[in-house]
Amino acid sequence: MDDLKAKYLGLISGAGSEAALEELRVQAVGKKGEISLQMRELGKMTPEERQLMGPKLNALKDEINSALAAKKAALADAALDERLKVEWLDVTLPTRPQRQGTIHPVSQVWEECTAIFADMGFAVAEGPQIETDWYNFDALNIPGHHPARAEMDTFYMHRAEGDDRPPHVLRTHTSPVQIRSMEATGAPTRIICPGRVYRADYDQTHTPMFHQVEGLAIDRDISMANLKWVLEEFFSAYFGTKVKTRFRASHFPFTEPSAEVDIQCSWENGTVKVGEGDGWLEVLGSGMVHPKVLQAGGIDPNEWQGFAFGMGIDRIAMLKYGIPDLRAFFDSDLRWLRHYGFSALQVPTIRGGV
Ligand code: DAH
Repeated sequence: MDDLKAKYLGLISGAGSEAALEELRVQAVGKKGEISLQMRELGKMTPEERQLMGPKLNALKDEINSALAAKKAALADAALDERLKVEWLDVTLPTRPQRQGTIHPVSQVWEECTAIFADMGFAVAEGPQIETDWYNFDALNIPGHHPARAEMDTFYMHRAEGDDRPPHVLRTHTSPVQIRSMEATGAPTRIICPGRVYRADYDQTHTPMFHQVEGLAIDRDISMANLKWVLEEFFSAYFGTKVKTRFRASHFPFTEPSAEVDIQCSWENGTVKVGEGDGWLEVLGSGMVHPKVLQAGGIDPNEWQGFAFGMGIDRIAMLKYGIPDLRAFFDSDLRWLRHYGFSALQVPTIRGGV
């Protein structure tokens, strides 16, 4: 028995893996293991012998089992130590550089406009970029022969041969969203519609795709005075300084009367500063919504009236952030985007009540 004990305790302490340990367990105390076989011999012994040998064999079995368990735990500890050594991590190392994208100036200004007009109770409406010529022109009181229709440099969609319905167009302005919103919500209403528009034109101040924000407010007693207040409030919040506006009589088919609106600015060595000086810069078209336009939108012009305006988002982005060339907006030049883009965490300036 002492030999057995010495043999197995030695083997167990020398075992190099859990698998080797398991093999030893089977060999010693498994069903057909050496110690189990000895226990079977007990049956052949005299009661006196059995009384002597039984407890000794049991004690040996217990001792070997606990040696096995202790070695198993020691092996697991050693394995863990080994892993901890290998998987060591230096948390003080600098992280890998990660290029962060930037918010495009158009997106930034789009958000700024939305926030400022939302403060004045305007909801955001959107419409499709591919329009019928009815929404883009006719409903806005621009009939087929009207010169404005030709002046818009419209992109017409292709129609299948033999299909002589009027073609769809890429909307040339955000004004058709006025009609769609009137149809959807009726009067009273107060919305802005930011979005992409398209015209076949390309130079330093024109790109075939650009952005506008349309405004529409309809109620029983809305007037040009409300329009002027809303716009001055908008420009002052947007530029962060009190901005005066100048209304010049103009003509648009969808408004009567119509006005082009200039904002106050100064010119100093080629740079524009908004909100100071005695210069003026044209920024938008506006007016009182034409009765025929209200009618096209399903609103009774005898009961309701309102103002509308349309402004270039890219243009006011250039003015606020000193961006000289419109075409660069859409070149996807990473250096330009990193320079003029905004951090995602940069909250737009919308200083109200200036
Ligand atoms: N739709 C016009 C354009 O793109 C801008 C405009 C002028 C919009 C007067 C209006 C408006 O809502 O009342 O040139």
